[in-house]
Amino acid sequence: MRQGAKEALEVLVRARYSLVYVVSWEEQRVLSVVEEVAERLRKKVIRWSVTEGMEGEADAAPGDEEARALAALDYVIKSYEPALFVLLDFHPYLKSPKVVRRLREVARELKATHKTVVLVSPVLELPRELEKDITVLDFELPGMEELAGLVEGILVSVRQSAGLQVELDEQQREEVVKAALGLTLTEAENVFAKSLVMARRLDADIVRSEKEQIIRKTGILEFYRTDAGLEDVGGLGLVKEWVRKRRKAFSEEARAYGLPAPRGVLLLGVQGCGKSLCAKTVAREWRLPLLRFDVGRIFAGIVGESEANMRRAIQLAEGISPCVLWVDELEKGFAGTQSSAASDAGTTARVFGTFITWLQEKEKPVFVIATANDIRQLPAELLRKGRFDEIFFVDLPSRGEREEIFRIHLRKRGRDPERFDVELLARAAKGFSGAEIEQAVIGGMFDAFDEGREVTTGDILRNIEQTYPLSRTMSAQIGMLREWARTRARRASAEVTEEVEEAQRGGTLEAIETMMGAMEEERVTVGVDE
Ligand SMILES: Nc1ncnc2c1ncn2[C@@H]1O[C@H](COP(=O)(O)OP(=O)(O)O)[C@@H](O)[C@H]1O
Ligand SMILES: [Mg+2]
Repeated sequence: MRQGAKEALEVLVRARYSLVYVVSWEEQRVLSVVEEVAERLRKKVIRWSVTEGMEGEADAAPGDEEARALAALDYVIKSYEPALFVLLDFHPYLKSPKVVRRLREVARELKATHKTVVLVSPVLELPRELEKDITVLDFELPGMEELAGLVEGILVSVRQSAGLQVELDEQQREEVVKAALGLTLTEAENVFAKSLVMARRLDADIVRSEKEQIIRKTGILEFYRTDAGLEDVGGLGLVKEWVRKRRKAFSEEARAYGLPAPRGVLLLGVQGCGKSLCAKTVAREWRLPLLRFDVGRIFAGIVGESEANMRRAIQLAEGISPCVLWVDELEKGFAGTQSSAASDAGTTARVFGTFITWLQEKEKPVFVIATANDIRQLPAELLRKGRFDEIFFVDLPSRGEREEIFRIHLRKRGRDPERFDVELLARAAKGFSGAEIEQAVIGGMFDAFDEGREVTTGDILRNIEQTYPLSRTMSAQIGMLREWARTRARRASAEVTEEVEEAQRGGTLEAIETMMGAMEEERVTVGVDE
């Protein structure tokens, strides 16, 4: 269960965990939480940093940095006081085999004492040898209350300054605080200062756009804006219904009614059929911010940073919650988890494990909407019960749905669908995905535009005829996907595409044939008896 960092730290200290690693950029916030926990448990807090040495000790230990790090650990072992030893930015010394060894000894020695070592650092660099000895604690980003306190402090301190419009009514104040969710206290402070400079007041729009830039710089998450709504998605009727039904799912009203907040869905299926499109629209439907999570980027950076990247993404999403977290093409990011041949398969699997555990245990209202084209690359754990509320299988559109998609894309480009024989187009576009339908519309428009006239049904029809849809080349793969999904996923739509219909009919025919065969045989047997 994920709880507040303070409670979590207290539990660990009481349970006599020797080594805790707190990952955070916010040293001051972490320190004040450590102080609070120490006070409750009647322990001292003793700080160490490489520049200042051990707090309360007259002279910092002599020697190079490694020697000083080792001296700090010796001090911890020898000390008799019940205390929390906070080692600030200790991570560089974890590269030294001697320090790592000594930490393992600290872990052992401290087991039966009232001492705990708390490593505080903005980066997580955990040597393999220490994985079992150190407990990593993610420090959640400041919540509404803490940010409100910061806003209040700023308002008080600038009230005297001339020319600053500092009075905010309750609603404005809440907006400013909400806009800052997802930032650290220091970042929020800087953003507020910038707003005061730019607008002479605290402005929610400025705060929000500054925040979006800060988050984009992490390279993993991005605020995503789209005009697309559910009405722009053709087909996928059951998914749309599921989403619409949960329009108020994140409200107080729903909680009071006794409903849990939706956790997430996975849209899985044929490429180009509207999975990504549909995923994007959910946030707008529910009036929540949309964050796009680029799983590929998690592993793109320096090896060893991927774990920290994953944790940071989770922390950010939770900080901004309630929100929708869109994970597009999930399989791309985690493709390495299954092949043991991949050199970093271990890392990928571990980082993926962090994600799965979070999916299952998260308590903050982060709704995850993930898409995937290829199930073969998805680890089986992901598809187990409890990870997602639903797994929807998105198939090729049925004839009726293709009509709907033609209408959507004609309308989107300023054309009245009534002027086209949409029924004919839909029939001709058998086996086409939504993306291919869109391309046929665009292609037809280009042809007509080139000839200086208005686009007609014929133009689009010609483009359909010139297209060889992917479903034909990939028919075996799609068949497998369908077979897989039949028992493991819900259908995204109540309608079926002709191909499936034919197969089903084929299936029935086959069954009839077998039956007839059996009857035939029976007759023969009967005949012999006579
Ligand atoms: N069901 C659909 N309804 C409307 N447009 C669609 C549909 N499916 C695909 N499209 C069009 O094709 C584009 C690409 O589809 P996308 O959602 O990326 O497919 P997927 O994620 O399933 O591979 C969409 O942005 C949209 O313009
Ligand atoms: Mg997609």
